[in-house]
Amino acid sequence: MAASPDDNVIPLPQRDAAGPAPTGYMSGFGNEFATQALPGTLPEGRNSPQRVAHGLYAEQLSGTAFTAPRSENRRSWLYRIRPALMHGSFSEFMQPRFHDVFDDAPVSPDQLRWSPLPIPDTPVDFVDGLYTVAGNGSAAAQAGVGIHLYAANASMQGRYFYSADGELLLVPQQGALRIATELGVLDVAPQEIAVVPRGVRFRVDLPDGASRGYVCENFGAAMRLPDLGPIGANGLANPRDFLTPCAEYEDVHGDFELVAKFLGRLWRADIDHSPLDVVGWHGNCAPYKYDLRHFNAIGSISFDHPDPSIFTVLTAPSDTPGTANMDFAIFPPRWLVAQDTFRPPWFHRNAASEFMGLVHGAYDAKANGFPPGACSVHNCMSGHGPDAVTFDKASAADLSRPDVIADTMAFMFETRAVIRPTRQALDADHRQRDYQACWAGLRRQFVAPR
Ligand SMILES: [Fe+2]
Repeated sequence: MAASPDDNVIPLPQRDAAGPAPTGYMSGFGNEFATQALPGTLPEGRNSPQRVAHGLYAEQLSGTAFTAPRSENRRSWLYRIRPALMHGSFSEFMQPRFHDVFDDAPVSPDQLRWSPLPIPDTPVDFVDGLYTVAGNGSAAAQAGVGIHLYAANASMQGRYFYSADGELLLVPQQGALRIATELGVLDVAPQEIAVVPRGVRFRVDLPDGASRGYVCENFGAAMRLPDLGPIGANGLANPRDFLTPCAEYEDVHGDFELVAKFLGRLWRADIDHSPLDVVGWHGNCAPYKYDLRHFNAIGSISFDHPDPSIFTVLTAPSDTPGTANMDFAIFPPRWLVAQDTFRPPWFHRNAASEFMGLVHGAYDAKANGFPPGACSVHNCMSGHGPDAVTFDKASAADLSRPDVIADTMAFMFETRAVIRPTRQALDADHRQRDYQACWAGLRRQFVAPR
């Protein structure tokens, strides 16, 4: 949409610049937080006193090697009603749509796209609603990602879940999630994200009913904020906008179930109480949420395109400096002002591989076929870019005036390794088998000079 000369304010949601974090959350990224649901729970001066207040047990949750550099070390001390070890033996849990099998189908260089995963018409909770669409690497190798979708319409009842294989980045697209974790509760709506560290147990309730979204299970090092380089001290996702929940606990008993994802398989064990029984905790290994509308987008104010790494919200490094195991990038509302420039994303091929989804509105490089809830895979060196309709429109755009993309929230899980679609995703009814047709209208325009 073209902006009129009077449109001098981008219609972005405004945050209360001076306001505190919402009640129930602590602001900051990777801070050493301390929180207690009952006064006097946290011990003074030591982590594991002989007797913890209120008859609680002390338990350490280590998210990194004990000897990881201090800047990367993640651990929290939990003070809880029962230690996490109290549950029955695990047996295999069958949910065949959710797994780590990324080698059951040949990986072609084809560009791939899927329509939104259908919402189920029978009661399905978050765990049963998970659906693996692609991935690479493995939990065993501690590298790569699992890329899952979920479509659910029921809250988890008497069931708790954790992944020992990786931290979970949840990107809801339809319907809010109430993620009750051991360390507190995250209320997450579309255009927000949540991150649950490896091993943290949680239950997902659906306050809005039917819910759908995307999940990146990061098998590698924990995600962190990217360095900003010449951008400076501010910009992109600012630390103050990340919110970690204050401690809340459940003290309930029943015939419950603990479901674990461990080395690519699902397991279940009986548990006679809620594992969400942490009364207080301190540390920096904790779940958090972030509102994507708070992202401070950086872009060209002269000509040409900076690389899309300027849209990185979080990055999980690999062992190769500058080459992430995975990046989480977004394409948020923003002004386009570059001149003598084709403003949408240009045609390109990358060494990295890209999984894209759309949370809200429309994506500026696709006129059709990519509604909210859809997803696409553009793998290593497979060409992609705007469809024919977008190309024609952008080629004729009036570049003397700014344009605003106001109604959008697209995102990308970008990985250094090729993204391998699962057999079920390749065979799915909601796969768009004619995806390449969106570029068929790109006409030959070449005219050789005489
Ligand atoms: Fe791309």
